[in-house]
Amino acid sequence: MKEQKVLGIDIGGSGIKAAPVNTNDGLMLEPRQRISTPIPAIPESVSSVIAEMARHFRWKGPIGCGFPAVIQNGVAKTAANIDNSWMGTNVNKVFSKATGLPVYVVNDADAAGLAEMKFGAGQGVRGLVLLCTIGTGIGTVIINNGRLVPNTELGHIEFKGMDAEKYVSDATRKAEDLTWEEWALRFNEYLIAVEKLIWPDLIILGGGASKKGDKFLQYLDLKTPVVPAELLNNAGVVGAALAGRYQHRLSAKKKKKKRKK
Ligand code: BGC
Repeated sequence: MKEQKVLGIDIGGSGIKAAPVNTNDGLMLEPRQRISTPIPAIPESVSSVIAEMARHFRWKGPIGCGFPAVIQNGVAKTAANIDNSWMGTNVNKVFSKATGLPVYVVNDADAAGLAEMKFGAGQGVRGLVLLCTIGTGIGTVIINNGRLVPNTELGHIEFKGMDAEKYVSDATRKAEDLTWEEWALRFNEYLIAVEKLIWPDLIILGGGASKKGDKFLQYLDLKTPVVPAELLNNAGVVGAALAGRYQHRLSAKKKKKKRKK
């Protein structure tokens, strides 16, 4: 099978990570590069980091990018943990201009979901899977019989009278100096609320905190089986590359169709 290389980039609240990925097997082809998310994380500053990363890998092909917001047709529609100036921005266009390469943006949690279903804990799982990423924000992904429903934002359900992610994110655990047990009990209550809404068959926990499963998984008590993500924190980069591959193909097909008309 031809190696399909795509540069995967994962934009997070604290760091931006990138690596070229072989999208056939999900393996990174070079060591991952990480640059701290610039402050303020506005379109100009983040674009220059993306361009720097493309230069670092001497990249000439398509780029897939996970972005922490609702993304519709390349446009950011929300800005929960990122600068408000992203709202309404066509992120595909801004990053493509900055790199001179085709860039395809997707919600960061959706990217992680694609990677876990293809190469990680969700491989071959049928039924309804909920993947939840725990980091600066709470990202959610719903995959039914292998098909992903994009842009679900269950991290923002109202919970205890507030935006759920403000109560249960990893950033809140650190800011409020919660013990792992205290935080896990909060997170458990949140997952029970989500279980009541969507009744998953499996819950996969990903994001930065997924590496720390041994510290909190024992405190979770749910109807649904819970497993940690297998690609851990790399799911974002690998999934961004996968999304980039799908969208690049789609755009090539569209262009071909146009030429034929
Ligand atoms: C955003 C989501 C994102 C999640 C994880 C949330 O605040 O609304 O779009 O997936 O954080 O970064």
